[in-house]
Amino acid sequence: MYRTHTCGELNLSKIGAQVTLAGWVQTIRKFGAITFVDLRDRYGITQLLFNEELTLQLEKNSIGREFVLQATGIVKERSNKNLKIATGEIEISITNYSILNKSITPPFTIQDDTDGGDELRMKYRYLDLRRNEIKKNLELRYAVNRAARNYLHQQGFMDIETPFLIKSTPEGARDFVVPSRMNPGEFYALPQSPQSFKQLLMVSGYDRYYQIVKCFRDEDLRADRQPEFTQIDCEMAFVEQEDILQTFEGLVKNIFKEVNQIDYKEKVERISWDDAMWNYGNDKPDTRFELKVQNLKVKGENLCTTLEEIKFDVFNSAETVLAICIPNASEYSRKQTDELIEWVKRPQIGMRGLAFIKKGKDGILKSSFDKFINETQLNSFANYCNAQQDDLILILAGAEEKTRKAISDLRMEMAERLGLRNKNEFKLLWVFDFPLFEYNEEGNSWVARHHPFTAPKPSDIEIMINNDPKISNASKYLDHPYAKIKANAYDMVLNGNEIGGGSIRIHQRELQEKMFAALGMDIEEQLHKFGFLLGAFEYGAPPHGGIAFGFDRLCAILGGSESIRDFIAFPKNNAGRDVMLDAPATIDEKQLHELQIKLGSKKV
Ligand code: AMO
Repeated sequence: MYRTHTCGELNLSKIGAQVTLAGWVQTIRKFGAITFVDLRDRYGITQLLFNEELTLQLEKNSIGREFVLQATGIVKERSNKNLKIATGEIEISITNYSILNKSITPPFTIQDDTDGGDELRMKYRYLDLRRNEIKKNLELRYAVNRAARNYLHQQGFMDIETPFLIKSTPEGARDFVVPSRMNPGEFYALPQSPQSFKQLLMVSGYDRYYQIVKCFRDEDLRADRQPEFTQIDCEMAFVEQEDILQTFEGLVKNIFKEVNQIDYKEKVERISWDDAMWNYGNDKPDTRFELKVQNLKVKGENLCTTLEEIKFDVFNSAETVLAICIPNASEYSRKQTDELIEWVKRPQIGMRGLAFIKKGKDGILKSSFDKFINETQLNSFANYCNAQQDDLILILAGAEEKTRKAISDLRMEMAERLGLRNKNEFKLLWVFDFPLFEYNEEGNSWVARHHPFTAPKPSDIEIMINNDPKISNASKYLDHPYAKIKANAYDMVLNGNEIGGGSIRIHQRELQEKMFAALGMDIEEQLHKFGFLLGAFEYGAPPHGGIAFGFDRLCAILGGSESIRDFIAFPKNNAGRDVMLDAPATIDEKQLHELQIKLGSKKV
């Protein structure tokens, strides 16, 4: 037997017991004639005491950091206790030990505050995984996994695996493809999600399906995106939107309870996509705090009529003017406002500038554009913004999309500065009634905002059936009836992050064909790409819908982190590389030959 106990479980109740532990050497401290060694395993750290005789042995048969050690001894009470760790009141007085394996010096210290940089730790991920911080994250991930499975099982969901070597399932990203040796010149695609399969399972009668499953998307990476990531993927038959929202609010609340011991009693707030864009400039607003956006001018129309009276080109020439009122900030100094101006000018935000009004504690108004506005106008401007005493009103003007994004980024930044983004507070939100289509400038065409299997709202189906998708006047695409069609789709947002998204699906062949046609696919292309699904819809497809949660994202937020990498055992870096394996990599000529693949000249 290698060990009788783990390094995390011994305490004063075991005084006098003979025990054997096995683990990794974290630190070695020589103290005169005796030596202390901290031994670590997955469960904790235990202090070992080597007496004079064993210390002499250690000198001959020396050990170092990360050696694998087995040690037997007696549990003793420690004179110098460390109450920060579970085993801190005892130590093991060693009677004998053996080295199970040596280690060369690790490239960074395997401690909470390690000296290793990101890339180095990624390269030696198996060492990084020994660190407490990452271990805690993986434990949390496993707890979320268990909580999800328990809940879904109780609700009658069945875990069914679906294949990875498939044909493209469009979810808005590029596919990763795999060549087929047995079918030369042909390729599988890795699933961007199991979307079509879960719908087919509904046709087959498995009316509550789930899977905690890998998805693969070749897209630009960010802190909350990986090329392979995991979804809690779910589908239900004979449901309407309301059934789905109820079931999956339950899922997330159960995860909160089991993982974070949080009893989320409140009803999950709901907001339409239009209202989210209007009030927050964003379709995944962080609703832990208010700081709502004020819409002064939208699509060239002055909603705040004062704008009509003032001659200030920045506002007059802009398509959109938006503002937010920051409380307790009227005493911002020149330096602070200058710094905010620089902040909005950064390339990531890309605005030309920032205008502001201060409403002092005494109610007196001052603006950065005083030259262009008189007192009465300034008053009605500030009133329109609903400014309170001691508010700083920040105003952005520019093109619609950019300005909305900028004001929502600014809103988040100011909330951060005001300490309103509390990591330990969780606020859920459903966003629903998304537009079904998005305009694609490049092709002067429509693309599916969620995915092509999403049903329009029942009340909008007629609009889709009765109108031609063709956009005759590109500059007026917003007037096209298709721009008004709403999707029967919903996203779940947690603290400003989209943690899940889903929809009620189309389940009739004709409507699905109409949808594909709207996306520019002729019938041949439809049959080539989705013949299997269109065919299945002719054999009694039930009404159905579902949702998928970003499992890594959910774990990261519950663990209080921005980056999902920390919650994935073996993640990729920002260039999509596994720096430990050094993948992707070239393959040898023989493999290429078997696959009948010829490479073009290498790009430098
Ligand atoms: P969607 O594409 O919205 O929906 O994805 C669902 C959730 O998965 C997470 N997610 C990601 N997480 C990490 N890295 C990525 N690259 C990444 N991309 C997405 C997000 C997102 O909310 N088949 C549909 C679901 C459905 O309709 O049922 C789908 O995949 O948290």
